[in-house]
Amino acid sequence: MKTLIRQRFIVGNWKMHTTASEAKQLGQGVVGGLGSADHVTVILCPPFPYLALVGDIVKGTQVALGAQNMYPEKEGAFTGEVSPTMLFDLGCTYVILGHSERRHKLGESDSFINQKVECALAAGLNAILCVGETLEQRKAKQTEAVLDSQLTQGLANVPPEFLSRLSIAYDPVWAIGTALHHENPQQAHDAHLLIRRKLGQICGESWAQRMTVQYGGSVEPDNAAAFLDQPGIDGVLIGGASLKVDSFLAIAQAAMTVVQAEMQPA
Ligand code: PGA
Repeated sequence: MKTLIRQRFIVGNWKMHTTASEAKQLGQGVVGGLGSADHVTVILCPPFPYLALVGDIVKGTQVALGAQNMYPEKEGAFTGEVSPTMLFDLGCTYVILGHSERRHKLGESDSFINQKVECALAAGLNAILCVGETLEQRKAKQTEAVLDSQLTQGLANVPPEFLSRLSIAYDPVWAIGTALHHENPQQAHDAHLLIRRKLGQICGESWAQRMTVQYGGSVEPDNAAAFLDQPGIDGVLIGGASLKVDSFLAIAQAAMTVVQAEMQPA
């Protein structure tokens, strides 16, 4: 049997959805229905108020807990913010940073996101840095320049000893939350190649080959395999479809099927 070069991720980003009882049902449904997820890391990212609740459900299971954001300080007078230390304390092992909704709806800059990446990694969390272009940027053929700049700035000064806890999510803004602009898997594959090439320049070729780069943007059970089948797409970050147990589990199953096929001897 072959060994996988890169860890595969299935991330459920619940965004600002669910009540406490829905979060509980969703968490329990995923944990109960997952079966064996060998070689695939399944991560649930509920809203802050439900991290402890979902953390209790996933504790001791193969499902990991992640947060959707954090503030880049250990503690202090930052009213309304949540620190990486608090996330760690609650059992979070992952944190999503620089999601396009935070970049574009809340005005987060690359330098602020970079502080978050450094602070999350220093606190012992695994950071998932999101990058991706808008539709206007894609139409203006700026995809490569945007990815270059988001990666260069977002990963500035990340110490090499933290790179094993870093992964990237390519979430093109125009493909998120809409059936209208479904990105095709070939376009996603091309962008992933650009990202990995840039990672090689920033982190060195060996890290670039080992780093998980996942795709996000309206991934559903019916298109997940097409994305996951692309070489270099190491998982998916799922918004809408992660809010239903059945669709999330179907996508996780698609990832496991792809991984199992890849591990068969040639
Ligand atoms: P979506 O979200 O699956 O709802 O498009 C994906 C994302 O936010 O990356």
